Amino acid sequence: MGLRLFHDAEELCRAAADEFIQNANAAIEQRGRFTVVLSGGSTPRRLFEHLSGSPLRDLLDWSAVEVVWGDERAVPPSHSDSNFRMANETLLCRLKVPEARIHRLQAEREALAGAASDYQVEIARVCNVDPGAEPPSFDLVLLGLGSDGHTASLFPETEALSESRDWVVPNYVPKLSAHRLTLTPRILNRASHILVLVAGPDKAVALADVLEGTYEPKRLPAQLIRPEVGKLSWFVDEPAAARLEKRGA
Ligand code: 6PG
Repeated sequence: MGLRLFHDAEELCRAAADEFIQNANAAIEQRGRFTVVLSGGSTPRRLFEHLSGSPLRDLLDWSAVEVVWGDERAVPPSHSDSNFRMANETLLCRLKVPEARIHRLQAEREALAGAASDYQVEIARVCNVDPGAEPPSFDLVLLGLGSDGHTASLFPETEALSESRDWVVPNYVPKLSAHRLTLTPRILNRASHILVLVAGPDKAVALADVLEGTYEPKRLPAQLIRPEVGKLSWFVDEPAAARLEKRGA
């Protein structure tokens, strides 16, 4: 596990954008394409704006990027809460990512269980694996951390936390009275690199509990993020790191 500390969210997002480009170019050089899982929330918005702006947008062959989401809110893609919409407006529609490489979670569907299993099949197709076999390994997974210890839409004390078979599941979050779709730790932890972006003082207690507290994944779902063989990086800004005892890598 590596932890990198940044002065503020802006510096953190710039470094995350550089990391994204490096990971992408390495994957494209080795395998001809880059599979990335995007997160929602406010922190990645700035990262996406950096990636789609000059000069970074010209440092990557965006036509070789396969875009997957780690979670989605149960709203139409045009809704202001949609993770797809945020990424589309700040990143995808500004770049030449072919539509066929943009794989949206269809969380607006009435039957979320069907949407989840269809997404598993879609991921399997994109990654050339059998949907009933071991999950594939994404090149890069971007995640955030909620002030309650959630990551993706793996919220404390919710059903998705105990999912050990499926790669994608619906998850009802009682405290938000909301349904979500989320990738599960089973597939997230197969990634070659998981990059968790954490910024802001409201994350300080959760971050210290997740990284330095006792292992209580039902209360702190982000503790379930433990790549099987890949790399785990935490990019953290000073306000979010305020409660950490160990502040180095
Ligand atoms: C979402 C997420 C979620 C997010 C965290 C942190 O759909 O909201 O994917 O897990 O990453 O809540 O979000 P912020 O970056 O807004 O703090």
